[in-house]
Amino acid sequence: MNIAIIGTGYVGLPTGIGFASLGHNVTCIDKDELKINQLKNKKVTLYEDGLEDLFNRVDIEFTTSIPIGVKNADLIIIAVGTPQDENTGKANLTYIYNVAKELSECKFDKYTVIATKSTVPVGTGDKIEEIINNKNCDIISLPEFLREGKALYDFFNPDRIICGSSSEMAKGLIADLYPTFDVLFTDRRSAELIKYASNAFLATKIHYINEMANLCEAVGANINMVAKGMGLDKRIGDKFLKAGIGYGGSCFPKDTLAITHLAKDYNIDLTIIQATILGNLYRKVDIAKKIMKYITPVSKVAILGLAFKNDTDDCRQSPAIDITKILVNEGYNIHVFDYKALKNAEKILGKSVTYHDNIKSITKDADICIILTEWEQFKFLDWKTIKEDMKNPLLLDYRNLLSKEYMESLGFIYKGVGI
Ligand code: UDX
Repeated sequence: MNIAIIGTGYVGLPTGIGFASLGHNVTCIDKDELKINQLKNKKVTLYEDGLEDLFNRVDIEFTTSIPIGVKNADLIIIAVGTPQDENTGKANLTYIYNVAKELSECKFDKYTVIATKSTVPVGTGDKIEEIINNKNCDIISLPEFLREGKALYDFFNPDRIICGSSSEMAKGLIADLYPTFDVLFTDRRSAELIKYASNAFLATKIHYINEMANLCEAVGANINMVAKGMGLDKRIGDKFLKAGIGYGGSCFPKDTLAITHLAKDYNIDLTIIQATILGNLYRKVDIAKKIMKYITPVSKVAILGLAFKNDTDDCRQSPAIDITKILVNEGYNIHVFDYKALKNAEKILGKSVTYHDNIKSITKDADICIILTEWEQFKFLDWKTIKEDMKNPLLLDYRNLLSKEYMESLGFIYKGVGI
């Protein structure tokens, strides 16, 4: 199949590389010339597990031109960003509509399916259809559910493929694209909502377990045990019950806000999601306040992890960054380390913190060590040596990665969340 993908970000690029590896003819389009030039030179433009490897094994065309890129396409996938509008909190659809406008000016000599993969409010497909207004095209919703850091894994092992369309031809094409998969076909509006409803539900699950962690601390219970016990009930499930510092990233904060705004437009109050949004904001302030109880202006504060979660270099809406910012604004001496996100963090934190690219230098003479991102690698550090190097063996493991008993046996004063 000839597939054109518009947008080469965290969704578009892994999707393009994934389809190319399955033998499709893929063209990736992005208006960022720098990015396209880099990609043409086989340099990946973002960190994603396994992406570089696979990229080196496939052939993909790259272009900055939509008309050139979509020529001969059977399927066009729109994967541009729908960032949060700073003023309204709604999804900013400028990029989507700009793409639709450009597509409306393209000539399609044969039947073409145009799929929106970007997360968009319900009804956006209708508007795209109005703008493109071409009898040779069907506009469908094909929401993405790729997790950052696991995008390729999710691409090849999806829990579900949702396709929102009323066109039999479009449905046929998507069924051909996923020959071994039982695609769930819905109407377009339902497909658009499934994405928002899923992300808001997962965000709520995280907020819920974080509130339970607070309760555990108050009543002397252990959130790790509580979550494990809850998760044994198959109706609840054991995923997304890891207490921590709040959710972040380019999706959950934006999508929870966007769905509440969408509902407001129809006079519906999504009270649970509203509580989740507020609770997640407070979570970061609460965690910063907790940290401040343990430090003084002369402490060397070592923060381990800045990305919004492990296995990514992405710092967008990272709770670790938000907490670091609060501490910086309070005038503390902050040192930071991350496996992949230092470059992106520097764009946000500038010169306000000291950057370390290794564990040895950040923990040397530190008064406190605080884990803010759930990098698995932290579990396998030489904590015995770290303890000897630190000035004060205080460890705040706010992702509950390590064993309290083991850390205490090494001589650390160990605090997690909800334990
Ligand atoms: C999410 C959805 O999972 C994915 O399906 C969708 O397509 C895009 O948005 P992503 O943004 O990559 O993916 O992050 P995810 O793995 O869902 O984690 C989001 C945030 O929640 C992170 O900050 C993570 O640290 C936090 N989290 C996750 C927890 O605090 N506890 C958990 O149990 C799980």
